[in-house]
Amino acid sequence: MVDISKLISEMTTEEKIGQLVQYNANLFIDSEAGITGPLTDAGLTPEDIGRIGSVLNFKNAEEVCKIQDMHLAADRNKIPMVFMMDVIHGYRTIFPIPLGLGCSFDTELVKECTRMASDEASAAGIQVTFTPMVDYVRDARWGRVMETCGEEPLLNGLMGAAQVEAFRGEGIEKPGNLATCVKHYAAYGGAEAGRDYNTVELSEHTLREFYLPAYKACIDAGVDMLMPSFNSLNGVPSVANNWLMNDILRDEWGFDGLVISDYNAIGELITHGVAADIKEAAEKAFNCGCHIEMCSSGYVKHLAELVDEGKVSAEKLDEAVYKVLELKARLGLFEDPYHGASPEAEAAHSLTPTNRAVAKKAAMESAVLLKNENILPFKKEVRKVALIGPFADNHEIIGFWSCQGKNEESVSVKEGVAALLPDAEIVVAKGCSNKWNELDASGIAEAVAAAEAADAVILCLGEPQNYSGEGNCRTDIDLPGIQNQLAEEVAKANSNTAAIIFTGRPLVLSKLNACIPAILNMWFPGTEGGSAAAALLFGDANPCGKLSMSFPKSVGQCPIYYNHTNTGRPKPNEDRHYGYNSNYIDCGNLPLFSFGHGLSYSNFVYEDMTLSSDSLTADGSLEVKITVLNDSAVEGKETVQLYMRDMVASNVRPVQQLIAFNKISLAPGERKTITFTIKEEMLRFWNNENKYVSEPGEFRLSTGCADHLIKTQSVILK
Ligand code: BGC
Repeated sequence: MVDISKLISEMTTEEKIGQLVQYNANLFIDSEAGITGPLTDAGLTPEDIGRIGSVLNFKNAEEVCKIQDMHLAADRNKIPMVFMMDVIHGYRTIFPIPLGLGCSFDTELVKECTRMASDEASAAGIQVTFTPMVDYVRDARWGRVMETCGEEPLLNGLMGAAQVEAFRGEGIEKPGNLATCVKHYAAYGGAEAGRDYNTVELSEHTLREFYLPAYKACIDAGVDMLMPSFNSLNGVPSVANNWLMNDILRDEWGFDGLVISDYNAIGELITHGVAADIKEAAEKAFNCGCHIEMCSSGYVKHLAELVDEGKVSAEKLDEAVYKVLELKARLGLFEDPYHGASPEAEAAHSLTPTNRAVAKKAAMESAVLLKNENILPFKKEVRKVALIGPFADNHEIIGFWSCQGKNEESVSVKEGVAALLPDAEIVVAKGCSNKWNELDASGIAEAVAAAEAADAVILCLGEPQNYSGEGNCRTDIDLPGIQNQLAEEVAKANSNTAAIIFTGRPLVLSKLNACIPAILNMWFPGTEGGSAAAALLFGDANPCGKLSMSFPKSVGQCPIYYNHTNTGRPKPNEDRHYGYNSNYIDCGNLPLFSFGHGLSYSNFVYEDMTLSSDSLTADGSLEVKITVLNDSAVEGKETVQLYMRDMVASNVRPVQQLIAFNKISLAPGERKTITFTIKEEMLRFWNNENKYVSEPGEFRLSTGCADHLIKTQSVILK
């Protein structure tokens, strides 16, 4: 084992600082990028580059091994580099986007996908992933909603923790496992008006109850690193926010891991207007406890000077270096600087049939059947199928942040349906574009003719994959271009029509909903998207996803979320027993499809809900039993959701909060009773005195989904 303290004692200040600097791989292998290219602006010298301790954004194992070899040959301390990248929803085999995986409500499935991603990525040279991304979200305009698990803090936290556990496996020293980095702390998803990087202003109770729990859940699961967010929160950018970085993260939560800035986030302290220059930015970020600077030059250029001037303590510098070297040691890099990666291992682990099979299963479990008026599943005996729309014959369905996933390796809807129905005649008509500014309607006539002649019509609609993800926000989240017009005309031509949607965010589907009797939301389903869609459409699989984020009726409703508080004047005449916020006159207040919604080909009946007691004490617990019957001839899965409402408290409480869920599988005619255990701590909230408490009184417990509560009973907390 390397003696880290001894190593540090032998390093120069410049060598120490090098460990705290991260740049892109092209700096090391492309001299143009480094010495004569864009990075000359940062004033980096070849000596600076030689001392850099970590790398991001590289291509493959060959590149990683090459950079590591070059570095180790030149470094007198023989300290390996550490290689980091964003493995968000797969590496080469791409799984559904996280917002989709959230709809599976299945942490074991998320672990299975994550294990595969970890295996592929590790063999390709990645040692640390900038995952999980657990930003809580309420505004579908924000492009990065695709990276999260949506509008429910409990779900976000459980999925984040599952990823941490699965990436880390049985120890990060083992090839195949990755160290993890939770991001973006804090409340990046609260960007005003859903515009990326925008200001966030939040009350402490909203922050504490909705935005912070998922980061904390990842810390409790043993995450190795943390990345502060780009945004300012209540006036202070996160990387320089002492309250977030020290009072909460370290003093309250006891986080002791490594902190890395987001890409150029330290440099952006100048643009935010809280630092006059990069030196001041470096001072602020370092003194807030940001150990590694990603892709700006404050540390490499000014940290030594700041230490000399006494503005940064030499002990803190050594502590930061210790943490970096400790991570490298924990990864076993001093023994194996490639962490098991090689071009051969990469080829052997990539895109195997087993990985593809799991990708298909994940895509099927993440899809959400939004609507079905006796259309789906289509019969497999159909003779002629029309596939209509911009996603009918389109491989661009893997989604943003797809690492080394390749569009051309994905299964399109056309390929998926053709493989499932080898004897059917399949006709494809694109009809129109999926881009917002392409309005050419000349393809609609051909699409209508194809629909008229078909036994079953599948409309394949949605938004391009680069309309969501970082920097890709929209003010209009309806189906882009003239896809609604296409849908309307096709539906008139053939009533046996279902639409499938490819998207990275909840879309406004009101116009589509008005003309199409069945809608299946596929999200961006990944490599096996087309085969999963075919299986679901033709009944080889039964949809079971439940929405992780509400679909608004109109973009004007954003932000819209199920766990809101009541106003004094809730709207009484909408189908929700507790009312809703004050009223829009042109739209209504409910979303089109709410969090928790999702249909099945089975018919699930909620029979009994019984409580073991009608009261609960602070140190006791209570059992809630719910019986569910599959009253159909089709085997299916149901996510049984348990919500609570605190009826009277010292400040306003959400009209619903998910406190537990359980996904079960039921054979035709089968009945199962599920037991949830309720404890006092599940009923707590952040009160006006900045304490996390529960208050005695009535709590209503309900099952069902957010817009359709089926059973409700009260319990008194004593
Ligand atoms: C993103 C991070 C990501 C980083 C490195 C940034 O632009 O905000 O989520 O980890 O780039 O790729």
